[in-house]
Amino acid sequence: MAAEIISGTEMARTIRAEVGEEVARMKEGGARVPGLATVLVGEDPASRAYVSMKNRAAEEVGILSRQIDLPASISHEELLGWVEGLNADPEVDGILVQLPLPEQVMEAQILESIHPYKDVDGFHPVNVGRLLSGTPDVLIPCTPQGIIELLVRSGHDPSGRHVVMVGRSNIVGKPMISLLLGRGRGGDATVTVAHSRTRDLAEVTRMGEILIVAVGRPGFVTAEMVRPGAVVIDVGVNRVDDPSSEKGYRLVGDVDFEGVSRVASAMTPVPGGVGPMTIAMLLSNTVSAAKTGAGGFGG
Ligand SMILES: NC(=O)c1ccc[n+]([C@@H]2O[C@H](COP(=O)([O-])OP(=O)(O)OC[C@H]3O[C@@H](n4cnc5c(N)ncnc54)[C@H](OP(=O)(O)O)[C@@H]3O)[C@@H](O)[C@H]2O)c1
Repeated sequence: MAAEIISGTEMARTIRAEVGEEVARMKEGGARVPGLATVLVGEDPASRAYVSMKNRAAEEVGILSRQIDLPASISHEELLGWVEGLNADPEVDGILVQLPLPEQVMEAQILESIHPYKDVDGFHPVNVGRLLSGTPDVLIPCTPQGIIELLVRSGHDPSGRHVVMVGRSNIVGKPMISLLLGRGRGGDATVTVAHSRTRDLAEVTRMGEILIVAVGRPGFVTAEMVRPGAVVIDVGVNRVDDPSSEKGYRLVGDVDFEGVSRVASAMTPVPGGVGPMTIAMLLSNTVSAAKTGAGGFGG
């Protein structure tokens, strides 16, 4: 039997509607409308597309969004100055610096310069530490947070189950395992992590009742690597050439969709799986940041 498709597009729509209602309630209650500032450095078309999707989604739910376009030649100090300005701006609740940044800019320092309460990407060391130690008042990285929502809301609660995570990046794998190991909603899983140095990878991935893949290689996980009946979450977004498409390429995940859909009980598609959830969680984080009320910090 073919796997059930877990639609991130549909679930993200529901979450965006919930966030929109929350923003409306805040407004009715006399609170300021939450504000999101996105910083785009350079002209990379993929980054530009991501940032404009994020801004559009923010505006749709009533969040005030502001895009700051900066030249690829910007110096590290100048970019720091921009972040400091946004930290001090009382109308900005969330700051997102789109990655990657040009070579002359020290990415880690820029991410650390964002005020932790405005760090809607959840990459600041304070938020990373809070997530790991299970402290409340934390902004959680959007992609792993979206995956937890996908699992819980689709009836595949990770609690008590063996989850295998392939990939250990700071953006996906590491925060993902922190959430899965945490106590309470979306957590309490038994977790195994695999990466490029893992031996007998297929043996490891076949242990997963839930298999989450964030590797960045098209069709990397094949049917033989999946435990029959597993739930498979495909985080990968890869461009592959496709002369039949208007753009000349199409997006595929890290999972061989066709093959794996015959073995798994449920799986996410690419596109339309994890991607839309990432954006929905960014909106949710912006509203949480507005409620925490760091607006004006440092100003
Ligand atoms: N949908 C979304 O919202 C979203 C968000 C973020 C990322 N993504 C996508 O998810 C994918 C992964 O992103 P990322 O930022 O996590 O990538 P990344 O930083 O490149 O990390 C990739 C991970 O995969 C592991 N890996 C590479 N080759 C492997 C192999 N042969 N066997 C086992 N593990 C292997 C690496 O292991 P080592 O650590 O040992 O090198 C690393 O931990 C990309 O396609 C990206 O575009 C999507």
